[in-house]
Amino acid sequence: MYEEKPLKFSKELKGISKKTLEIHHDKLYVGYVKKSNEILERLTELRKDIIAGNAVGNQTYSELRALKEGETFAVNGVYLHEYYFDALGGDGSAEKAPELSGAIAEKWGSIEDFQKYFTEAGMAARGWSLLVWDVKAKELRQYNSDAHNQGGVWGCIPIVVLDVYEHAYFIDYGSDRKSYIADFWKNFDWEVAEEIYKKSSQLEL
Ligand SMILES: [Fe+2]
Repeated sequence: MYEEKPLKFSKELKGISKKTLEIHHDKLYVGYVKKSNEILERLTELRKDIIAGNAVGNQTYSELRALKEGETFAVNGVYLHEYYFDALGGDGSAEKAPELSGAIAEKWGSIEDFQKYFTEAGMAARGWSLLVWDVKAKELRQYNSDAHNQGGVWGCIPIVVLDVYEHAYFIDYGSDRKSYIADFWKNFDWEVAEEIYKKSSQLEL
């Protein structure tokens, strides 16, 4: 079963209000956890029917198809939000991630150039913008995702996860997504990213 994770920080964020966090974490994120569990329970039942020969999969419509589509949307909704929330509450200081900063500078020139590029990638996304460790390519990559279950590349570990759905910023910034992303960087906890980078970049598959 999937479990709700509380926010790790209690301090006020720069620009992102308590009200946004209450809606975003306590309602939307928790909603994905609940739906993930609901889907898992129904799939467990349906599996018994399939094994007994009383249900089948069909790509045009079947209950299994509907559940499978909802499953990836809901579970990615849980995971992506956890990466996002876990790295908020920091001070935006990239010096706290020396190894990751070095790898970013090697690929994109400098942290500032990377942030500029990543910010524009966030402006170009409809759902998520990510810096990942690509286990297949064995390097950092930036990917965008227009929905929780669309655009993801398998074999990648998320390191920086930015939610650009309007629910993440509209209350505080209106349509000014760019100012929201600027504040995302000010609130970003680079120590969290450094930890993920150190572990993921060691992966040998
Ligand atoms: Fe979100």
